[in-house]
Amino acid sequence: MAEVIVLDTPDDAGRFVAAHIAREVRANPEFTLGVATGSTPLPVYQALHAESEAGTDFTRLTAFALDEYVGLPVEHPESYRSVVDREVTVPLGLDPARVHVPDGSVEGIQTAGARYEAALEANGGVDLQLLGIGRTGHLGFNEPGSSFGSLTRVKTLTERTRIDNARFFDSLDQVPIHCVTQGLGTILRARHLVLLAFGEGKAEALAAAVEGPVSASMPGSAIQLHARVTVVVDRAAASELKFRDYYQWAQDHKPDWQGI
Ligand code: GLP
Repeated sequence: MAEVIVLDTPDDAGRFVAAHIAREVRANPEFTLGVATGSTPLPVYQALHAESEAGTDFTRLTAFALDEYVGLPVEHPESYRSVVDREVTVPLGLDPARVHVPDGSVEGIQTAGARYEAALEANGGVDLQLLGIGRTGHLGFNEPGSSFGSLTRVKTLTERTRIDNARFFDSLDQVPIHCVTQGLGTILRARHLVLLAFGEGKAEALAAAVEGPVSASMPGSAIQLHARVTVVVDRAAASELKFRDYYQWAQDHKPDWQGI
C-alpha cells in the first residue's frame, strides 16, 4: 500500500517533497527526476528553487517530463516544453541538454513514443516520478481505459480534461485534442512514485486511485501495483479516503529512520 501523508497546505506538501528530493540530489547529483505539469507540482518546484538558493546544486540533475501536447509549437507558452523550462529548468539552473520532453510535433509523431522510451532506457530510467492526478483519474495523460502495460504513445484527451486544461489557454478550441504521454507501464518503471493532489476537486479521484479497485477505468489505481509510492496531499484532497485515520496513525508513529 502507498504511504499516504496528509499535510495542511499545498505549500507544506511542496516543502516536504522538495526537502526529500534535495536530500537525494545531495547524495547523488546525477539524480533523475520525473517532472509533471499542471498546477499541482508548482509548490514542489517553488520549494526546490528555495533549496537551490539555499545551496543544493541541481545542475547535474536529469529531468524527464510525463507528456506533451501534439501540434502545439514548442515556443507556445503552454507547451509542456515551455512549462518545464519556465518552472524547472531555468529556476533550478538545469542543463537544458538533460531536460527531456516528448516530441509533440506533427512531423515526428510516428516515432515520438519509441524515441522517448529509448531516451529513458539510455538514461537508466527515472529515480523519482512526480505525479498529479486528473479529475478523470489520469496520470500523465493516460485517460481511462489506458493499459497498465502501455508505453509512451499518442493518446486522445477526454473532453473533461480539455475543459479542465482550458484555463491555461484563451479558449477551449485552442486546447489540443491529442498528446504524447508516457504510458502507465512507463510510469510504473520509475523507482519511486510521488503522487500529489490538492483540493476537494481531487478527493474522489484520489480515493479511487489509492484505495481501489485496481482498474484501467481508473488509471491512477495503477499506483497500487508499484512497490514504492508516496502520496502527499492536503486535507481537502484526503477527505474521501476511507483509511485516513490509519494513515494518520502511521504518520504519528513513523520512525525517524524510515524516510519516504
Ligand atoms: C494535466 C497533466 C497531468 C496532471 C493533471 C492534473 O493535464 N497532463 O500530468 O497531473 O492534468 O492537472 P492539475 O495539476 O492542473 O490539476
